[in-house]
Amino acid sequence: MAEEKKAEEKKLFKVTIDNITVDVEPGTTILHAARMVGGDVTPPAMCYYSKLKGSGGKCRTCLVEVAAGSTADPRPMPKLVASCRTTVMDGMIVKNITSERVLEARAGVVELLLINHPLDCPICDQAGECHLQDLSYEHGKEGTRYEFKRRTFTPHNLGEYIQLHMTRCILCYRCVYTANQLTNKREHGILDRGDHAEIATYIEKALDNEFIGNVIDVCPVGALTDKTFRFKNRVWFTKPMDAHRDCPTCSGQVQLWMRGDEVYRVTARKDEWGEVKDTTEGKPGWICNDCRFHKKSVKDWVIEGPTQVNRHSVISQGHYVNTVTPKETLPEVMGGRAPKLLMNIHKVSDVNRPEIQLSKIEGPAHSDDFKPPTP
Ligand code: SF4
Ligand code: FES
Repeated sequence: MAEEKKAEEKKLFKVTIDNITVDVEPGTTILHAARMVGGDVTPPAMCYYSKLKGSGGKCRTCLVEVAAGSTADPRPMPKLVASCRTTVMDGMIVKNITSERVLEARAGVVELLLINHPLDCPICDQAGECHLQDLSYEHGKEGTRYEFKRRTFTPHNLGEYIQLHMTRCILCYRCVYTANQLTNKREHGILDRGDHAEIATYIEKALDNEFIGNVIDVCPVGALTDKTFRFKNRVWFTKPMDAHRDCPTCSGQVQLWMRGDEVYRVTARKDEWGEVKDTTEGKPGWICNDCRFHKKSVKDWVIEGPTQVNRHSVISQGHYVNTVTPKETLPEVMGGRAPKLLMNIHKVSDVNRPEIQLSKIEGPAHSDDFKPPTP
C-alpha cells in the first residue's frame, strides 16, 4: 500500500511484463522496462543501442505482444510491436517469452536475417561475441527454407583499421549513427534500397576519423571487424582485462584482450546488454582510435584486473579460478594403446611457422609464432 502511494506520488506507470510488474517513469520504452526486470524477460535487440539517438525500429527482433494497452483502455494491440520504439502506458500488460505469437515471429525474423548471412562463423572474428549467433541459438530454427543464391557485393576498402564484410551485415544502421553522432565527418552510409542496400563509402574512401573505430564495437555481427586483430586469435582464448590510461582524446577506460602478456585487441568496455558501458564519470565510454589500434603493449596501460564475464558466455570458458579439467578418457577407450597421430599439423598448416612446434614452446603462443598475415 505504501509502495503504491509512493508510485502514485512520483507518477510512475505500472507495467507488467511476463507476469512481473515494475514501476517505470512515463516515456520509458517497453524494452527499457524489460531491462529493469532483466533475464529472459528482456527481448533481444539487434539494432537498438541506448547510446545512439534514433537507433531501433529496423530489425524487429525485439517484437512483443501487448495483451492490454493500459488501465484506461485495456484492449490488446492487434499486431506485435517493436519494444524498443513503443513507450509504456499505465497498466500495460506485455508478453514476451510467455507469448507463442512472439516466439514464432522472432523465429521468423531470425530466419529472415539469416537468409543472406553467410554461415562462416568458423572463420569469422566475431564468433563467440556475435549477437546474431546468440540470437540464432536462442530463437532460431535448425533449418532454412531459402533455396536461392545469397547476395554478394563488390568489396569496399574502408582503410587500414576496419574490415567490412558486407555479406554479414544485417543493416541495423548502428555504425551509421555512430559515425554521425561521434565523428564530425561521416563518410559511409547505407547506399541503395531493398535487396541492393549496402554499407559503403560513396567514392572509395577510408574511414579515418579518430573515433570511427567505435563502429567495430557497435556492429552486432562480424560485418565490421578490427584489421589489427583479424585472424590473430579466437576471443575465447584471450582474457579480457579492465585497464585505463591517461588519454588526451577519450576516457582511456578500455578492455584489453590478452594472451599471456601480449595485448591482442583493445575495445571499449561493454555492459550486460553488449553496449558500450558508461565511464566512471558517467559518460558513454567510447574510445579513440589511438587507444584502440596503437596501444598494444602492456606498458601503455594501468591494468585494473580481470573483466567480469557472464558465465554463460563462451569467453568465460577456462578462465580464472575453479576451472574443472575433465577426466582424460582417451587411454581408457584406446585399451591402453597410445593414440596414433593422424596428421602433423605443423607440416600442413598455413598459419603456423612450420619450424615452431606450438606444443613445445613455453607459455602461450604469441603472434611471432605464426606466419605474418598476408596483406
Ligand atoms: S555494418 Fe554492422 S553496424 Fe553497420 S549496419 Fe551492418 S550490421 Fe549494422
Ligand atoms: S531492436 Fe527493436 S527493432 Fe531492432
